[in-house]
Amino acid sequence: MAKTISIAIDGPAGAGKSTIARRLAKELGYYYVDTGAIYRTVAYFFDLWGISPKDLDGITRYIDELTIGIEYDEEGVQHMIMNGMDVTADIRTQDISQKASLVSAHAIVRDLLLDMQRDMAAKHNVIMDGRDIGTVVLPKATVKIFLTASPEVRAHRRTKELLDKGQKADYQRILKEIQQRDYQDTHRQVAPLKAARDAVTLDTSEMDLDSVIAAIKEIVSRKVAL
Ligand code: DC
Repeated sequence: MAKTISIAIDGPAGAGKSTIARRLAKELGYYYVDTGAIYRTVAYFFDLWGISPKDLDGITRYIDELTIGIEYDEEGVQHMIMNGMDVTADIRTQDISQKASLVSAHAIVRDLLLDMQRDMAAKHNVIMDGRDIGTVVLPKATVKIFLTASPEVRAHRRTKELLDKGQKADYQRILKEIQQRDYQDTHRQVAPLKAARDAVTLDTSEMDLDSVIAAIKEIVSRKVAL
């Protein structure tokens, strides 16, 4: 089988990884793999069962009851299937964001999802975003990018995004949630969020979306023919 190309984009919550990865994947004809959605599905499952994301005993006891599938529709949009049910829309709440951050700290959860992620990258050209793609999941990724921005800028972007959609948004609350998730994701023992040694770090605090896309394309073009 021909070797596949993988582009790993890691970084904290709200850095713009998914927007950029989705756009680039479409242009390149690659699969976009949103690994955060997989952890969100796990969090959603335990939430339905009434098990706290911190309860390792409960998680260990019931984890075998969970089956996760990833499907793509004609538009290339990733759908998360939990025990046969499409939960793609259900996993996008603030509550599940926090629970995904907590549940993802357990080694038993991370181990369960590792093969699934590696398998995708072995079969297809992918742009995969997450927290540990360049460090743990795909240490030999063709290109590694660490995308970041200050917590304040990320909170402002998120607030604007929600307001633009006509939803309620409180900047201070969003900032607090981002800081809490940053702390949890960087301080856990297993596969914490950090830049791989061979990743190119891009701080987008002072950049608009088009400049970020242009910068990423330039980084990718050093390794992959665009
Ligand atoms: O990317 P996201 O915000 O949808 O991710 C939700 C949570 O899942 C995030 O706070 C930490 C966890 N996560 C992870 O631990 N490893 C990944 N590769 C992706 C997400």
